[in-house]
Amino acid sequence: MLNTCQVPYVPSSAKQVENVMSLLKGRSGKMVDLGSGDGRIVLEAYKQGFRPAVGYELNPWLLKLSNYRAWRAGCYGKVFYQRQDLWKVNLSDCNNISIFLAPSVLPLLETKLLAELPDEARVVAGRFPFPTWMPTTSVGGGINRSWAYDIKTVRQKGQNKPEGCLE
Ligand SMILES: C[S@@+](CC[C@H](N)C(=O)[O-])C[C@H]1O[C@@H](n2cnc3c(N)ncnc32)[C@H](O)[C@@H]1O
Repeated sequence: MLNTCQVPYVPSSAKQVENVMSLLKGRSGKMVDLGSGDGRIVLEAYKQGFRPAVGYELNPWLLKLSNYRAWRAGCYGKVFYQRQDLWKVNLSDCNNISIFLAPSVLPLLETKLLAELPDEARVVAGRFPFPTWMPTTSVGGGINRSWAYDIKTVRQKGQNKPEGCLE
């Protein structure tokens, strides 16, 4: 259905990583980057205390690069990079999610996240916002802008439901 061709590897800028992490400030527990690229966001999340810090990525070369970067940072074996299709991962135990994916896949991702994430989860989107969700807050500008979405609020507002289904 969807594949990596739809979502090319473009690493987050240093400012974008900083913005994503600032929107997760004060939170803890599991942190997952969906489509983790070279692993930079996962590594930063680990450094900031998230446990476990997990990246799902399909490209085996990027997984090797992620592990190399983790090793260089003294974090090898402490951060987890897994070769998995993000569409097939069950996210029901994830409280902190970051994504930087192509706008074309975001409508479908909204549906998956709403179906699986717990109420306490916060999702941070880098560079491209979700199409129908209202963010709780955002930070930065231009290509470094990032948006935070609290799943409980998104659910309460009945976002991403077909018209006529609002409670
Ligand atoms: C725009 S890059 C973002 C990389 C990283 N999250 C960052 O912010 O630096 C998107 C990544 O998602 C990966 N990707 C695309 N589709 C995927 C899928 N179905 N499952 C896992 N990873 C996927 C791509 O290989 C690419 O590395």
